[in-house]
This record gives sequence, structure tokens and C-alpha cells, in this order.
Amino acid sequence: MIKKCLFPAAGYGTRFLPATKATPKEMLPVLTKPLIQYGVEEAIEAGIDTMAIITGRGKRAIEDHFDISYELEHQIKGTTKESLLTEIRKVITKCTFSYTRQVEMKGLGHAILTGETLIGDQPFAVILADDLCDNQESSDGVLAQMIKLYEKYKCSIVAIEEVPMEETHKYGVIAGKEIEPGIFMINDMVEKPTSEDAPSNLAIIGRYILTPDIFDIIRKTKPGKGGEIQITDALMTQAKNGMVLAYKFQGKRFDCGSVDGFVEATNYFYKESKK
Ligand code: UTP
Repeated sequence: MIKKCLFPAAGYGTRFLPATKATPKEMLPVLTKPLIQYGVEEAIEAGIDTMAIITGRGKRAIEDHFDISYELEHQIKGTTKESLLTEIRKVITKCTFSYTRQVEMKGLGHAILTGETLIGDQPFAVILADDLCDNQESSDGVLAQMIKLYEKYKCSIVAIEEVPMEETHKYGVIAGKEIEPGIFMINDMVEKPTSEDAPSNLAIIGRYILTPDIFDIIRKTKPGKGGEIQITDALMTQAKNGMVLAYKFQGKRFDCGSVDGFVEATNYFYKESKK
């Protein structure tokens, strides 16, 4: 069973400057809820109760968010506004949160390795909170769908979606053999390829299930694209040693790390809230 979810949240969020100068990107709200709370709720829905968050300098607001604010609670107790804190209170009581800092931002692979002390020797989930997912017509959230698949195959799994070829340079891109509809056994993976170099248009999004041998693999992985330790390079090694799956999830994803995706998500969730 997968009981822990890692949230790498140490990045600088430069695409959202100046908003992210003193506020973590993960705390930017879509409507009234910060991105990271959507992620935590998706993990809870998938049966996870232990959240491990990789933070960095200037990310204190994340810890404060998942804590009780006694002054505030006291102030609004008995007023109509009290209900606005119901959801976050539920989140706080349902799970535990632990934090560790990534001292140098050496890439997503490095951030995941930093989480080893919080995860230990067990398979775990990873959510990049700036990829906001909504399950739409599917009854399960994206992570819950992936955990079901993990129970069958017991290997690392990445979530993928088709993107226009001209956008492959923004993602890790996979190629593989389709072993079931929408499920690929990965045989190639390239980080942020140009459309000419991309092995397909199947892009990795911010949801992963990882087996714990990934930590040793990351430790041995040399810096790749952009001088960063890339999780895609480590996953490619894992795929060569055994098997890594890519899963075309059901639902919708918004790249809230970009202004366009963030606005799209805001409009979408606003419309949903009015239904
Ligand atoms: P991004 O590529 O979106 O980078 O990282 P970023 O710094 O957050 O944003 P931009 O590109 O400067 O606007 C993908 C995810 O990996 C985490 C980020 O927090 C984000 O969730 N990350 C990235 C780390 O935790 N540490 C790193 O060293 C790099």
C-alpha cells in the first residue's frame, strides 16, 4: 500500500515573479484554495495520510497553512465565516505533515532524493502541486487511478498526456510499447526535447508513483539538461533495469506554473463552482 506522498515544493517559481518573490508558488490560490491544498486533497482521496513536503527558503507559509491558526479561529468562531475553514481543518486532522529543506535547488530529481529521510524504504507517490488535476468524468482522482495500477504492476509509474508537438520542449517525453489501452511500458524518455528530437508527444505531468530503489539511482545520476539532476534520467535507468510504466490518466490537468494555465484553471474551477 502507498501511504506517503512527497511534494517537491522548493523551486523558485520564476515564471510567476514578482508574485513568487516572497510567496511560495504552491500557495497561489485557484479561487480561494492554494495549489498545494488541492494536491494534498487528491492524495487523501487516494488513501494517503502522510504528506512529506520538500521546501526551501521563503516557503514557511506552506507549513503555516497546514497548521491551526488559533487567533484566527478564535476571531471567526460562531460567525458565518467559520465554514470557510472547514475543508482545511479536515485536511489537518486527517493526515500528518513532515518537512525537509532542499538547501540547493539542483533539480526535481535532487528534490526527490532530499525526501528520502521522510519516505524511507517504501513505494511512494509524488505530486507537483503546480500541475492541478481534476478527475472530471472519472470517479477517481489521478493519483487514485495510478495507485490502482501500481497494485497490479508494482513498479514506478508516471502520468502522461498528449501535448502538441511544438510544446514537447516543456516536458519529459516518453516512448514505449502500449501493453494495455493507455498504459505504456517505457523504452525511451527525453527531458524537454525539441519537437524534432521528441520520441512522441506523450508528456510526463506532475504525478508519479516511485519504488524506493529510485533513491540509489538518483544518487548515481549525473546532472542532465540545464545542469539539474533530472528525475527523467533516473527513471530511464530504472526502466532499463526493469520496468517503468506511463499511464494516460483520465481527467484534466492545468499547468498552474504558467500564467496561461493558471488563468485557465481559475476559469474552469470558477465555472465548476457555479454548477
Ligand atoms: P519547475 O520546473 O516548475 O520549476 O519545477 P520552478 O522553480 O518551480 O518554476 P519556474 O520554472 O522557475 O517558474 C517543477 C517542480 O519541481 C520542484 C518545483 O517546486 C516544482 O514543484 N523543484 C524543482 C524542486 O522542489 N526543487 C528543484 O530544485 C527544482
